[in-house]
Amino acid sequence: MQSPIGIFDSGIGGISILEKLKQVLPNENFIYLADNLNCPYGRKSKKEILSLSNKNCEKLIELNCKIIIIACNTSTTNSIQKLREIISIPIIGIEPGLKPAIHFTKTKNIGVLATEKTLGSKLFFETLHKNKIDDIHIHEQIGYELVNIIEEGLHSKKNLNKLLRSYLTPMISKNIDCLLLGCTHYNHIRDIIEEILPENITIVDTIDPVNKHVLNKLKSDNILNKSKNKRFIKVFYNGKKLSNNFLDQEYDLNYLEF
Ligand code: DGL
Repeated sequence: MQSPIGIFDSGIGGISILEKLKQVLPNENFIYLADNLNCPYGRKSKKEILSLSNKNCEKLIELNCKIIIIACNTSTTNSIQKLREIISIPIIGIEPGLKPAIHFTKTKNIGVLATEKTLGSKLFFETLHKNKIDDIHIHEQIGYELVNIIEEGLHSKKNLNKLLRSYLTPMISKNIDCLLLGCTHYNHIRDIIEEILPENITIVDTIDPVNKHVLNKLKSDNILNKSKNKRFIKVFYNGKKLSNNFLDQEYDLNYLEF
């Protein structure tokens, strides 16, 4: 099936998913929507997040997508259940990897860096309580301002470093041995986070499991693209032009109203 795979995020964060997914699926066409006019989602109400997410899904369906990937933890944790009731094509989302982290931790302390609305969501709470073992402690930190700095193309790196240290130091002092990156934007600053973290702390993201899930879903629904035509990857934004810092040459970047 030659129809594209649709992906959306509040901005450039989900590009970190697309970057790997386009390698896992070299024959697939992609359409990526960066809703940067409405970025950040992380401090909006659940109702607003659902309405923006629904708008993005409708646009991707209008653009003939065969499946939707919500490359945004905030949107997934606040809207995926409802979206699956109203959207007619398959939807796959991304959430902080609580389950793998709970299996991984030896110190029984896990750090989670995410947006306010991801950490406050019912889905995050339920996943935590379904998987949590009594003596494991979860140390949550809201990444205030990080999304904005990343959207701006990381021009204020010094500021970013200071901010990150203030978020990570309290978690480090709690003896965490893994840190969950609970926002796709943070994948773009993984190297800076790694520089701050001591070596014994492992970063856990969910890019690979999500991409594997997408591949399996395309196979099981028999909607893989078997065509040998040159594939396309279209990236649309609806606000300010996206920062080139995170964009591959292969992307066809354009403004679109949605
Ligand atoms: N990339 C989104 C996420 O994973 C960013 C959230 C925001 O826009 O605040 O949560």
